[in-house]
Amino acid sequence: MLFQSLIERKRDGAALTADEWRTALADHLQDRVPDYQMAALLMSVVWQGLSPEELTALTLAMRDSGSILDWPPSVPPRVDKHSTGGVGDKVSLVLAPLVASCGIAVPMMSGRGLGHTGGTTDKLEAIPGFRTDLSLEEVRAQVERVGVAMFGPSERIAPADRRLYALRDVTGTVPSIPLIAASIMSKKLAEGLNGLVLDVKTGRGGFMQDPERALELARTMVELGVGNGCRTTALVTAMDRPLGRAIGNALEVEEALLALQGRGPEDLTLITRALAVEMLLLAGTEADRSVARRQVSEALSSGRALDKFRELIAAQGGNPGIVDDPGLLPQAAEVELFEAPVKGVVAAVDPLPLGRAVVAMGGGRRQLGDAIDHTVGFVVSARPGAKVLKDEPIASVFARDAAGITLGLAALREAIRIGPAQPLLPLISHRVTISGTETLS
Ligand code: URA
Repeated sequence: MLFQSLIERKRDGAALTADEWRTALADHLQDRVPDYQMAALLMSVVWQGLSPEELTALTLAMRDSGSILDWPPSVPPRVDKHSTGGVGDKVSLVLAPLVASCGIAVPMMSGRGLGHTGGTTDKLEAIPGFRTDLSLEEVRAQVERVGVAMFGPSERIAPADRRLYALRDVTGTVPSIPLIAASIMSKKLAEGLNGLVLDVKTGRGGFMQDPERALELARTMVELGVGNGCRTTALVTAMDRPLGRAIGNALEVEEALLALQGRGPEDLTLITRALAVEMLLLAGTEADRSVARRQVSEALSSGRALDKFRELIAAQGGNPGIVDDPGLLPQAAEVELFEAPVKGVVAAVDPLPLGRAVVAMGGGRRQLGDAIDHTVGFVVSARPGAKVLKDEPIASVFARDAAGITLGLAALREAIRIGPAQPLLPLISHRVTISGTETLS
């Protein structure tokens, strides 16, 4: 196969065959195709898109480039969740133990921080001792024993996507709905799941800022999941403001603990519960939505979900003592209050400068392999729509030094706007299933 002719055909809008996609990926993974040629092919996809058949072929070729988790019949139905990423999105920390405490197996594979968005594995690693680099054998054994495992991307899962993603990251080929859908779904389909819920975020703090594109991504991924044997539902949720109050790794773990105790911020609680209900329904053990809702409430109010989090932390080498004493989490050296500059109404809390500031303050990576400081971040108590007085404390910055505090205060000045109210996106706007799209707001 002459790779150059594949590029030319894709560039001119033709559809490549499943065999061509499979060979292209295998040859790239084994260095028989150089990065520059693969980058040209990817850029052609950005412009020309993929036919539904090509999308399936690309996704399955990525999935099959590595291992696929298989599960013994004794393991209950397995359901995972994937979020397209946002600022302050600590939902997975609450959701995984919550759903596992309802008797569903949760093998949750999560990513690291990407750009201005935080990653679940980084947050978990704020817990002293917590290991996210589990082997697939460890994942399987822990899910059988504890019902839940939370682990980072494995080199054995969809390695072709790993190679392509690194290339896309530096060649301007990330923002393509078919490429994003294939990348996410290839990894999820390799987990051997019965069900998957997708949290597709829209708004300035997400990667799909435009709600219409977020919906299109949701529909594309739902079709890919269902078409390949995994029951899949998506919720489209708001990321035009941070989720919850805490932003930054250790601070978000602390807020997740509050949510597991039923004392979390309302938006975090509502989204987590909604996703948990979908996961119970996808598992197939419960068909009635109101019964699923009651099960989720009971798991939280009885303390079972919190106990499961303790068990999960201990199983992965972390200190479960943080559950009862969050003071055992790493603490920032410097903390400073941010006060409202004028009296008025909070019109907006822009997640983008806050997410970027966490990275700049050391809480995220600028380059692959950078060590991160888990302590830095923000707690923003002012929510859009709240009335504030001049000089009222409305946020805090957590930093490792005075320079970090200065950066953080500047980000808060940029992010928090006091003035005429602006419309907010609905917290949960759509539910997308294979049968169609339901508007929820
Ligand atoms: N996350 C992924 O795993 N892949 C993408 O392409 C984008 C976000």
